[in-house]
Amino acid sequence: MTINPGDQVKTCDELAEAPDEYRKAVEKIVISHAVNELYGAQVFDEPAIALAPTPYAKWLTCRVAMEEYGHHVRFRELGEQMGIAADWMTPAGKRPLSIFEFDLQTWPEFCVIKLLADLAEILQVEDLAHCSFLPLRNLARMTMPEERFHAQFGRDFCTELCRTEEGRQQVQAAIDRYFPLLPKFFGRAKSRNNETFRKWGIKQRTNEAMLEDYVARARDLVEGTLGLTLPKVEAAATA
Ligand SMILES: [Fe+2]
Ligand SMILES: [Fe+2]
Repeated sequence: MTINPGDQVKTCDELAEAPDEYRKAVEKIVISHAVNELYGAQVFDEPAIALAPTPYAKWLTCRVAMEEYGHHVRFRELGEQMGIAADWMTPAGKRPLSIFEFDLQTWPEFCVIKLLADLAEILQVEDLAHCSFLPLRNLARMTMPEERFHAQFGRDFCTELCRTEEGRQQVQAAIDRYFPLLPKFFGRAKSRNNETFRKWGIKQRTNEAMLEDYVARARDLVEGTLGLTLPKVEAAATA
């Protein structure tokens, strides 16, 4: 069978028959998600259980950590079905994204990470929910409600923290330090990888369009909902 741009690829067996360019593009995405879901759970979500201030907050943080490890497990399982070596799907095999290069120390910092980084992840998952490789599309659709819960968790706890002046200052300080790491998450402008993803319908939008949408949605949350200030975006997508 011949697979052309615009076609859907329904199974891992069909993927094995797909052109190299298609297969490698899908592999890149699955590896990246497997690695980054695991690393994020290790450096942010699991340590945050110890930072959570109340039993209720610990309970919900445990759920977030469980789901982030679960995302790794699901992406890794798909990767294994696609024939990707298990070693490539851990932080030892591929360097994690720079959004994880933040030294998490406090509960307000974790709440801001969930508010802003999980919103960024929601945009990626929304895009993959229309992916031409159907097992990846299905995985994105399964993951979506959980990522929405994580972003809502961030929003709820940030809202609660912002009820006191000290809490507002802590949340604003964390946003000022964390938000600048996020534009890079969407990749470079005029990216070749992104061009290949769009050619094959693996992804739908350009990195520039995703970033613009993200900044608008983050501004809505930070300025509209929390009444705080979103730092200026550096020309990070072109860096
Ligand atoms: Fe996740
Ligand atoms: Fe998440």
